[in-house]
Amino acid sequence: MELIVEVKRHAYEQLTVLEDVSLAVRAGEIVAVIGPSGCGKSTLLGIAGGILKPSEGRVLLAGAAAADCLNPLTYIFQDFALLPWRSVARNVAFPLEHHRLDAAERARRVADALQRTGLAEFADALPKQLSGGMRQRVGIARALVVRPAVLLMDEPLSALDAQTRELLMEDFLDLLLRERMAAIYVTHNFAEALRLADRIVVLSRRPGRIKEVVDIALPQPERRGKAAQAELAELGERLWSLIRDEASSAEREVASV
Ligand SMILES: Nc1ncnc2c1ncn2[C@@H]1O[C@H](COP(=O)(O)OP(=O)(O)O)[C@@H](O)[C@H]1O
Ligand SMILES: [Mg+2]
Repeated sequence: MELIVEVKRHAYEQLTVLEDVSLAVRAGEIVAVIGPSGCGKSTLLGIAGGILKPSEGRVLLAGAAAADCLNPLTYIFQDFALLPWRSVARNVAFPLEHHRLDAAERARRVADALQRTGLAEFADALPKQLSGGMRQRVGIARALVVRPAVLLMDEPLSALDAQTRELLMEDFLDLLLRERMAAIYVTHNFAEALRLADRIVVLSRRPGRIKEVVDIALPQPERRGKAAQAELAELGERLWSLIRDEASSAEREVASV
């Protein structure tokens, strides 16, 4: 399945937030979106997922979803958004409550999602009994339970410490590559974008416009290797130079309000 997002313009009342931002993501591809705070990244993701309707523009889903797909597009949020009074398994089952499924199918999907995220033995735990990283895995399992075609991730790791982030990033990658899902990954962390993405869409400060699309040609297995580090560092420099001015003027604007 391919998701195509074409935003000609999006505004909240008088405030124009996005202008001429188009992107497409195909099965097995990860597109990262980076840009300064407030440039419209979350808005773009909301439009991609159909939560927001663009003031001008459109969103298309092309191709057929897998037979067991209940929801082609699914979000993973930064704050996990778990229900604290529900067990891990019942949090993961939550999105299924909007679908007519028999109990056996429901149980099968939950068990499968828990297994794929390494949570099988935590099914009965409550969120507060888990570390931040494990909680985020519950967020991922809950997204997977509908067997989505495209994952929409809004800074999914930014509430976590560096070490947990590193581990979960590897988990994400394995999962995305294994399942050949598509993903749009919003982050302000260059290292995450460089590690995960096939393509990085760099947005300007608000109103967010595409400043550049950076392709990362390095195949995934090579990115971990020493040889790739110089090339990745160079790409990182380039990304930084693209948003440095934007970020610092955005910073000044916020400071002067
Ligand atoms: N529902 C809303 N109503 C009005 N303004 C909004 C709303 N959501 C976001 N904004 C504003 O739109 C701009 C872009 O927000 P957002 O998409 O969250 O940016 P980012 O995720 O890149 O930080 C910000 O200036 C924000 O304050
Ligand atoms: Mg945001």
